[in-house]
Amino acid sequence: KKTVLAFSGGLDTSVILKWLQDTYQCEVVTFTADIGQGEEIEPARAKAKQFGIKEIFIEDLREEFVRDYVFPMFRANTVYEGEYLLGTSIARPLIAKRQIEIARATGADAVSHGATGKGNDQVRFELGYYALQPDIHVIAPWREWDLTSREKLLIYAEKQGIPIEMKQKQGSPYSMDANLLHISYEGRALEDPAQAPEESMWRWSVAPEAAPDEPEYLDIEYEHGDIVALNGEKLSPAAVLAKLNQLGGKHGIGRLDLVENRYVGMKSRGCYETPGGTIMLRAHRAIESITLDREVAHLKDDLMPRYAALIYNGYWWSPERKLLQTMIDGSQTSVNGWVRVKLYKGNVMVIGRDSKTDSLFDPNIATFEDDEGAYNHADAAGFIKLNALRMRIAQARRNS
Ligand code: ARG
Ligand code: SIN
Repeated sequence: KKTVLAFSGGLDTSVILKWLQDTYQCEVVTFTADIGQGEEIEPARAKAKQFGIKEIFIEDLREEFVRDYVFPMFRANTVYEGEYLLGTSIARPLIAKRQIEIARATGADAVSHGATGKGNDQVRFELGYYALQPDIHVIAPWREWDLTSREKLLIYAEKQGIPIEMKQKQGSPYSMDANLLHISYEGRALEDPAQAPEESMWRWSVAPEAAPDEPEYLDIEYEHGDIVALNGEKLSPAAVLAKLNQLGGKHGIGRLDLVENRYVGMKSRGCYETPGGTIMLRAHRAIESITLDREVAHLKDDLMPRYAALIYNGYWWSPERKLLQTMIDGSQTSVNGWVRVKLYKGNVMVIGRDSKTDSLFDPNIATFEDDEGAYNHADAAGFIKLNALRMRIAQARRNS
């Protein structure tokens, strides 16, 4: 009857729009969001109108994206398979949530997305839809239609009079996805993991060897585990990430070339630029290094891969991810202070950190110089001996 389509205004989602109208004879509501992908979203309005769309939603979600999704994820120092900072994965729950809210507001009974049947994104969108609206209908054109190749898609576009200029936008030879946290590249030349990506592929960062010969220093201020200021200037979450992306990109920071395991079971090669996120991860670990209890920090580290997999696999709206988030957020009440980093030719080097209110670092205890009062050194002998007990028993048995 009526479906809410996540509509970028590009060729693919324009074909989907037309196909939905033809195949389902349904009314389509379009939803276009600015999550920092670096493209104008206003042109999507005119494009939607060309298809006779009456209900057009165009929204700037940059602050919400960083404040409610990116920052909470970085509180956990989240990394998938040791390397991927989840730039695409973390944006899907927000898109799914807004689509469902718009479906409710417009009385739509279905939602639709442009992800293929082979990837992670379909899972993330749809798990989100069902978690938030159990009886929603999902239309995934890529899994239904017979436009199984780029060529068929173009012929369909031609026949349906989908404007030529939209085709021009397909200039990039890669499947790309961008938002404030990252830009990703997959497919085409990258499908051979033995082959290095061409330098011209990267859009957000210079190569480390082309980065400035002078390092740049940056002070990062934290409140409850979130960045609130850079070099003494208070900034909103989206402004923080935009600034870190600019600085990171300038210094060649945050490139990644990875073969990862998709949830659907296949291995896939992707290249990512996450300049700001790469700085955030290092700096956050540094502020936690002085403000978190050892066992709390280690417990967070133990649980982090589980939390990362939940986000990668699309379970942002699940009870177990929310439960983990409560624990993670609870750990961050003491994560206040500042970190100083040095940015230089692809590297983020932590060179200082302090917390006036919450540092657990005690120079009088840590010192190698003569100290008074840390503990009686003789006690360490007993500590070690008791910890050695089970190993001594086992070895004594082997010796006898
Ligand atoms: N492989 C990454 C992930 O699963 C990036 C996916 C990019 N998505 C896209 N529609 N181009 O998170
Ligand atoms: C897609 O298949 O639509 C993009 C790649 C992915 O979701 O993993």
